[in-house]
Amino acid sequence: MTKKLYLETVGCQMNVLDSELVVGSLRRQGYELTQETTDADVILFNTCSVRQHAEDKIYSALGRLRHHKVKHSGTIIGVLGCMAQKDQEQIRRRAPHVDIICGTGQLAQLPALIQSVQRTGALQIALSLDRTQSRHEVERSFESYDPMRDPSMRPNRFQAYVRIMIGCDKFCTYCIVPSVRGPEQSRHPEQIAAEVQQLACEGCKEITLLGQTVNSYHYDLGAGRTARLSDLLARIHDTPGIERIKFITNYPKDMTDDLLEALRDLPRVCPYLHVPAQSGCNEVLKRMKRMYTAEFYRDMLARCRERVPGVAISSDFIVGFSGEKDVSFERTCDLVREARFKNSFIFKYSPRPGTKGHELYADDVPEEVKKRRNNDLLAIQNAASLQDHRRFIGTRVEILVEGPSKNAWKQESTGPVQLTGRTRTDHIAVFDGNPRLAGQTMQIDIEDATSFTLYGRVVTSEQVGVEETDCCDESVRPNQRIELPLVG
Ligand code: 5AD
Ligand code: SF4
Repeated sequence: MTKKLYLETVGCQMNVLDSELVVGSLRRQGYELTQETTDADVILFNTCSVRQHAEDKIYSALGRLRHHKVKHSGTIIGVLGCMAQKDQEQIRRRAPHVDIICGTGQLAQLPALIQSVQRTGALQIALSLDRTQSRHEVERSFESYDPMRDPSMRPNRFQAYVRIMIGCDKFCTYCIVPSVRGPEQSRHPEQIAAEVQQLACEGCKEITLLGQTVNSYHYDLGAGRTARLSDLLARIHDTPGIERIKFITNYPKDMTDDLLEALRDLPRVCPYLHVPAQSGCNEVLKRMKRMYTAEFYRDMLARCRERVPGVAISSDFIVGFSGEKDVSFERTCDLVREARFKNSFIFKYSPRPGTKGHELYADDVPEEVKKRRNNDLLAIQNAASLQDHRRFIGTRVEILVEGPSKNAWKQESTGPVQLTGRTRTDHIAVFDGNPRLAGQTMQIDIEDATSFTLYGRVVTSEQVGVEETDCCDESVRPNQRIELPLVG
């Protein structure tokens, strides 16, 4: 009899990838996914600690399962990922019915941990060392989890994430990632190239390289040679079958010219950069320990646009960080007005115990002020995104069709439905078409736009004479994305 697995994922693309790999490995043990906790033999939560809200969600879900576990004592409940790494004591106290606490660096052990619970009934804990130990030991305790991929585990076969590094050494004062994901470690370029090759053989057309600070990638090849992200992009660029290569998330200080030149010169590398600014105020940036000024960030933007004509750039901002005054927030508004970001993700500061920010500074911006600043900044970004989107009206763009849009279920089941896809600059476009077009690269004519979406029509083979653009343009755009970005 097949065993049933329920898995809920919170957080960034790194977690989405980890969950895909976990499901793949448990499928090989005979588990099938279920959408309901009620009929699951194993219930797993892959967690996020970047903001308090993400943690609260998991504790509520665990609370709802307390009764279920009393009635079904054989059901195994596991907490995986960042919260597990950070808060084993708290999880044991607040949710004593949890059977497994497994950190990001131990996911490969999960099948064995489940078997141990089945055998012994005892709580199983597998975590990495904390960062007070020697670097080498800590590094070894955070193992990158990159097993054989199972294409059926992805939402679609033609897009995939590929991890190129784990961890982070930047220690921005608000951020918990360096503690929960460990020291920065890059994977060997040949190992990455082999994974890309395998994905391509399985029909993957678009890969997104993942790293918390992806442009800090560097692998020491020995004999004084280092592979940087630009070298890695060149190495995987000609993999047959791969049409698009993206990478997220970039750290502003590490946006080197060799990388921008790779972006300009390698046609399959998409002209899209996610480079979080976090704030436009130098004092706040200093307290955040971002290691750059607003002037440096502006220069970096100018350099990106000069070197990579048509590049689309998106950003992240935190509002209400400790000590952020009205004038500091105004500097952030100025930056968003000027920067012409394609879109920005905006977050209210959430103090994280275990970070320098929490230790050193008071959370002194009231919640209603954080909310107001969040809304104000979003309004500025949305206006800029709309302006950017409207430039596409009347142009022809190339999109990779991802599948039916969220609205498609409302339509008749026969005939065309609303499909969604992305341009090479990561703009989202919707249009009517046959769901079987999913996975195809095609041309559409853009007829309308909002701050979030381009609306288009499929170009039929008879249609000629419309001016072709590759939809790169130099401006800002909307605020939509399925997952939250990685930190960076
Ligand atoms: N509070 C609010 N937002 C945060 N981020 C990271 N840490 C925090 C925090 N403590 C945001 C940053 C990052 C994004 C993924 O999450 O903007 O780029
Ligand atoms: Fe590292 Fe990004 Fe977190 Fe800074 S915000 S510590 S760069 S993961």
